[in-house]
Amino acid sequence: MPTLQPDQLTIREMREDEAPIVLELLKDGFKDTENRLILYVLTRPLALLLMAVVSSALRFFLNSFVVALVLPVVLTVVALKLLLWRSPDLRHLYAYYSASKRGLWVAVYDEDDVCGCVALEPCYGEPHAAELKRLAVNRWYRRSGVGRRLLSFLETQARAQGFKTLVARVSVVTKAAIGLFESAGYTVSGGQRWLGYTIQQEFSKEL
Ligand SMILES: CC(C)(COP(=O)(O)OP(=O)(O)OC[C@H]1O[C@@H](n2cnc3c(N)ncnc32)[C@H](O)[C@@H]1OP(=O)(O)O)[C@@H](O)C(=O)NCCC(=O)NCCS
Repeated sequence: MPTLQPDQLTIREMREDEAPIVLELLKDGFKDTENRLILYVLTRPLALLLMAVVSSALRFFLNSFVVALVLPVVLTVVALKLLLWRSPDLRHLYAYYSASKRGLWVAVYDEDDVCGCVALEPCYGEPHAAELKRLAVNRWYRRSGVGRRLLSFLETQARAQGFKTLVARVSVVTKAAIGLFESAGYTVSGGQRWLGYTIQQEFSKEL
């Protein structure tokens, strides 16, 4: 973790030529999360039991013990990947976020080092609520206050755009993000469940 000079860190709108750097930042931040979440779900007792039952049933139809064992795991991983897959198409990041009522900002250290990003999107069906999206900090800059600065910046932006509530949906395995939201005064307001297990928590805060 580098020692940052707070006055060297600025937050501004992402420029079009910075989209590939931001895309890499996001991929790096979310690849780990997705894999950890899949491992978390696969190792829940109920998921293990269901896969064992399916595997035993498959033994009646398949000659291979290995295939009967592996197939339920592969199908579960595919189902989870589909469940976790979300739009938008990140290859069009700049075009998507330059649309009205959305925005993507980058944290820049020492004038040219893009070290974090965060985006704001309206919550459909809830006119006074906005959602925090695409929060990621370069791993070399983590735990040095960049995430907190981006969050505080986004709250100011959301307030200025007239939103009353800021919502963030966080995977249960992302301890760093959960710690960040809890320390910034967010409370759990919902979540997404799979096989009875919470896989994503919704945090929200009145602005
Ligand atoms: C979540 C993330 C953005 C945090 O950014 P960061 O710059 O490291 O966060 P900060 O240094 O500003 O930390 C602010 C607070 O968050 C909490 N926190 C941050 N990292 C933590 C960790 N690894 N474990 C527990 N709490 C943590 C702490 O409360 C911390 O305050 P403290 O340092 O005074 O104890 C960063 O870890 C990241 O990019 N993760 C991968 C992508 C991701 O999970 N995005 C969130 C999607 S909603």
